[in-house]
Amino acid sequence: MKRIEAIIRTGRLEDVKLSLEQAGISGLTCEPVRGFGRQQGQTGGFGGSNYALNLVPKTRVEVVLPDDQVESAIDIIIQAAQTGEMGDGKIFVTEVLQAVRIRTGERDEAALS
Ligand SMILES: Nc1ncnc2c1ncn2[C@@H]1O[C@H](COP(=O)(O)OP(=O)(O)OP(=O)(O)O)[C@@H](O)[C@H]1O
Ligand SMILES: [Mg+2]
Repeated sequence: MKRIEAIIRTGRLEDVKLSLEQAGISGLTCEPVRGFGRQQGQTGGFGGSNYALNLVPKTRVEVVLPDDQVESAIDIIIQAAQTGEMGDGKIFVTEVLQAVRIRTGERDEAALS
């Protein structure tokens, strides 16, 4: 199992969520976050003399899923979240050691399906 963490534009959340739902993913967590990338939160157009580091609002989407669904989920997120402009966000993938559905005690992939 893997955990996909996608930091996306908040305005792309609905599309990302819908596309993942249509692909059959069975759960998702999202939350508002703030951060910066390599432009350090600069949006440009203000002369550049004030280089205070800005924290830009984004949305973090988290999905835990079986290994064999990771690549397609990444493709789906890119498809739904990409504008081609700076600040489209990032996707991070990490290992998940265990999953448990609390209601039934089901474990791992059975807890995800
Ligand atoms: N290395 C990182 N670690 C954790 N969060 C990050 C990292 N890079 C970006 N983020 C998060 O993703 C958000 C969007 O990043 P952003 O898309 O601007 O990345 P970038 O590397 O600057 O790419 P681009 O050049 O396309 O803007 C940031 O505001 C921050 O919340
Ligand atoms: Mg950036």
